[in-house]
Amino acid sequence: MPSTKRIWVTGASEGIGRGLLQHYRTLGWHTLGTARRPEGPPEADRWIPGDLSLPAQRTKVVDELLNDGTWPDLIVLNAGIGYLASALETRPEDADRVFALNYTAPVELTRMLLERSQGRPLHVVVISSIAARFGQQNLATYSASKAAVSLWAESVNAEWQDRSHRIQLILPGVVSTDIMRHSIGSDGQPLGDRAGTHRGWSVERTAKAIERATRSRRFAHILASPSVRLALLLHDLCPSLFYLLLRRKP
Ligand SMILES: NC(=O)c1ccc[n+]([C@@H]2O[C@H](COP(=O)([O-])OP(=O)(O)OC[C@H]3O[C@@H](n4cnc5c(N)ncnc54)[C@H](OP(=O)(O)O)[C@@H]3O)[C@@H](O)[C@H]2O)c1
Repeated sequence: MPSTKRIWVTGASEGIGRGLLQHYRTLGWHTLGTARRPEGPPEADRWIPGDLSLPAQRTKVVDELLNDGTWPDLIVLNAGIGYLASALETRPEDADRVFALNYTAPVELTRMLLERSQGRPLHVVVISSIAARFGQQNLATYSASKAAVSLWAESVNAEWQDRSHRIQLILPGVVSTDIMRHSIGSDGQPLGDRAGTHRGWSVERTAKAIERATRSRRFAHILASPSVRLALLLHDLCPSLFYLLLRRKP
């Protein structure tokens, strides 16, 4: 009888990460989750708390993850933070915070797991964003952090072509979570009630789409409507027209 599969999800206390725990649990997987808050949601079979933007806590979390001698079959590096401020208003310390979680955390966690893999295959899924694919007002830092992690993952994918390890990249469009309320603004504080409405795909639909993506051989997956995909294509082929249309959008 095959042993139960194990998934480790970062940023699993709510939003897309929690949706993933819930979805994989219904599939019979053993679910492990991480986020800063000390207690995990009921969908986590095991909870390993930690602030993944801090190097010492990343080490603690990975040590704890592997201390029972098991190896996760799937790792979803999902923890991320939004940032909403104009480029001019962006304080360097806030940009560092955003990059520490959105870029450095997935890069370092992957490296640490690879170091400890001892011949066991690694399957890493990096959650980026379609914001990585084009520029938008007040999203320069967030988009740059997601673009950085996307190109990093693309490079790792090239390095791992002839190895047993796998990396995949997910670029969600808008998903209905509290990400905007948690996003930090130009004052370095969460937007909270200052955040606008943020409605798109449900976390359940997103989790299912991510799970489907992990079963495909394709590296990158955009989770958005055909019109958004078409717009991204237009951006790549004719950026001037793309930005003209974006400016005219109501
Ligand atoms: N929602 C969207 O529309 C959307 C679109 C494209 C991409 N994404 C990406 O999808 C991912 C998940 O987004 P979401 O919408 O689910 O966001 P969310 O609802 O704000 O959830 C973020 C998760 O990350 C955790 N987290 C935050 N800071 C952390 C830290 N320093 N260390 C460890 N965990 C931390 C949070 O838990 P704690 O507060 O307990 O730490 C929470 O579990 C992010 O990478 C985001 O950029 C989201």
